[in-house]
Amino acid sequence: MDAIEASRTAPRLVPPRREPPEQAPGLAAYLRSIRDNALLGWPRAAYAEAITRRRMLGRTSFTVSDPEAIRRILVDNQANYARTSGSVRILRPILGEGLLISEGAAWRHQRRALAPAFTPKAIDGLAGHIASAVEDGLADLDAEAAAGPVELFAFLHRLALEIAGRSMFSVAMERHGPELRRFIAAYSERLGRPHLLDMLIPLPWMAPLDLPRARFRRRWTPFLDRIIEARAAEAAPREARDLLDLLIAVRNPETGAPFSYRELRDQVATMILAGHETTAVALFWALYLLALDPESQDRVAAEARGADLSSPAGCAGDGRLPFTRAVVDETMRLYPPAFLIVRRALAPDRIGDHAVEKGDIVMISPWVLHRHRLHWPEPDAFDPARFLPGAPAIPRYAYLPFGVGPRVCIGAQFALTEAVLALARIVGRYRIALADPAPVLPLAVVTTQPEHAPPFRITRRDD
Ligand code: HEM
Repeated sequence: MDAIEASRTAPRLVPPRREPPEQAPGLAAYLRSIRDNALLGWPRAAYAEAITRRRMLGRTSFTVSDPEAIRRILVDNQANYARTSGSVRILRPILGEGLLISEGAAWRHQRRALAPAFTPKAIDGLAGHIASAVEDGLADLDAEAAAGPVELFAFLHRLALEIAGRSMFSVAMERHGPELRRFIAAYSERLGRPHLLDMLIPLPWMAPLDLPRARFRRRWTPFLDRIIEARAAEAAPREARDLLDLLIAVRNPETGAPFSYRELRDQVATMILAGHETTAVALFWALYLLALDPESQDRVAAEARGADLSSPAGCAGDGRLPFTRAVVDETMRLYPPAFLIVRRALAPDRIGDHAVEKGDIVMISPWVLHRHRLHWPEPDAFDPARFLPGAPAIPRYAYLPFGVGPRVCIGAQFALTEAVLALARIVGRYRIALADPAPVLPLAVVTTQPEHAPPFRITRRDD
């Protein structure tokens, strides 16, 4: 424990949370939870037992929080665990055949080919785009804050999309941003929500939402084409300006071939979609927690104001902002944006004391895992000090905001740079308080979002 931590006066914050159900919910409640809020589907036992098993609608599913079993599923025997047909059906119309959805040899080729675009050096090259979008966002926030309470969740969505757009295309998103936001909102509000039949009907057959999703894709891909074609008309630069240049430079390590146009477009969609909503919710929860914990907020502000961020590359991990980084890490423990990693067994296996049959579903939920009684002292308390240098080691496989193993998030470094820099700049500049004290509960559909978006009172620290 460092000196500042030891001098802490306020008791640890336990942010509002709905108690999990005592018993596993019955069929109707379980189905409702999948559609409306997956967090209600895990009973109290899931937060205390290493593996829980459930049989429903003729299928067995496991919730796995046992480190050895997680390692078996996501690392040692990962080839035996594929994406579920529900995930593919819901995501493919918007992501195409990009990295997130692909499997087997297609996935291996893409992952190896994309690796050079996501090295720490490549991400450092994108940090300028992140920083410029954050600075422009702060100017907008000045104006919004002067007019009254601010809807920070909407602001952070716009900011994360702006960062994703500029990092991908180098251009500010005034032209494409509103349309891009409309596409994404239309998808996530209805078509991206899981329905029971998405999961039960085999992929080659039609589920009820497949048709509207296909119609969506017919409008979505020409939109992406327009943005990419505008870039293709420009002369190729000598050095990569953005992620699109890095993706265009990608070569298959075996054949030397670049991505086809269609593959390129699917990777563009994947990176924008996988990256912006997750980071927006992480930033929202970090600011919410800091609004509830002014002592930690002041500490982030002091650190941010004392740090030289004129060159932002590497700021997430180079020791300039250790407490801000710990706040980001602890936020993603309490509110992991990706609350569920789910797989389908391709062949029988064993996890812990359980036999897994072909077709069984295994769920590793960062939400459950990060609040699990076996892994964390005071699991529901907000305590960034857990992640400060010198704190006891976090148990391996107990903290997985970005997953683990070969399919670990390829954008993790990018996301951390973005989240740490944006948090430092926002909190260094403003004092953030809730304008409405009503508790904000989390709701998990696609990502872990706030149940309602509260207004915040934002005042300049230097006023
Ligand atoms: C806070 C922000 C983020 C969180 C919490 C997050 C979380 C995750 C998780 C948990 C996975 C693993 C899923 C699984 O194993 O099924 C994943 C995969 C992935 N993420 Fe992220 N992500 C974030 C930001 C980003 C960004 C910024 C990008 C792109 C620039 C990105 C692109 C991807 C891709 C392409 C995959 C699939 C990797 C593969 O299957 O090989 N993510 N992410």
